[in-house]
Amino acid sequence: MADRKRLIVANWKQHENIKQASILVHRLQERIDRRSSVEVVLCPTFLAIQPLKLQVDAHKFKLGAQDAFYEDTGPYTGEVSAAMLRGLVDYVIVGHSDRRYKFGETDDIVAKKVAAVVRNDLSPILCVGETSSDRANSETAIVLNDQLTVNLTQLTSDEVQKLVIAYEPVWAIGTGDFAKPEQAKSASDIIRGVVKELYGPKAASQVRVLYGGSVTSHNSQAYLDIDGIDGLLVGGASLNYEEFGKIVASASADKK
Ligand code: PGA
Repeated sequence: MADRKRLIVANWKQHENIKQASILVHRLQERIDRRSSVEVVLCPTFLAIQPLKLQVDAHKFKLGAQDAFYEDTGPYTGEVSAAMLRGLVDYVIVGHSDRRYKFGETDDIVAKKVAAVVRNDLSPILCVGETSSDRANSETAIVLNDQLTVNLTQLTSDEVQKLVIAYEPVWAIGTGDFAKPEQAKSASDIIRGVVKELYGPKAASQVRVLYGGSVTSHNSQAYLDIDGIDGLLVGGASLNYEEFGKIVASASADKK
């Protein structure tokens, strides 16, 4: 089996201002083991990235951004580019369902963002996933295939190997209605299958696949036990330091 390091990502969304983010990091640092074999990535608001960069123990946490614009610089009022995030973060979440469905991001825009993140030597955490009506119509595999095919179109096979893909069924995000482990397993197999078809077996075995959608300390282990799932993308539960500490501990405990 490919040696894929476990990854737990905290997506704080539009929560925690600079001061609150600093307090949360302080609490988390007390709970996370420096020697943990798990990579833990915190994705705060853009505003908090720089102060947290100075505050975090780099042996415990990496930082990520929740989005990045694809043009490096220019007249794009309100945007923050991947180029501007260089040196501050290691990861950038791209194509989160909040962006796709609340801000109208198309697969083409997501593809440009993924390419910009890679071009700037950062790692994209690409989110894909079906809506409840896609699932009801048995279109999960088609949706994942279509999203990945377009979203990865500008990458080489070597670049795809370094990617993180988060399976985030839209119906499970922030709803408490988390996916059954067998649904997450089936989706992760589909994702690796698409990567294999498009970029070959090496890329498919190296790419890290996460599950995200109403993850808590109660269900985290069930996903981490799945062969082919390398970690978790955690929203709501990552704002609670005790919960998130437990989720990270569950990932550290039994490294496959
Ligand atoms: P949730 O969010 O854990 O609150 O469902 C996950 C996400 O949006 O990435």
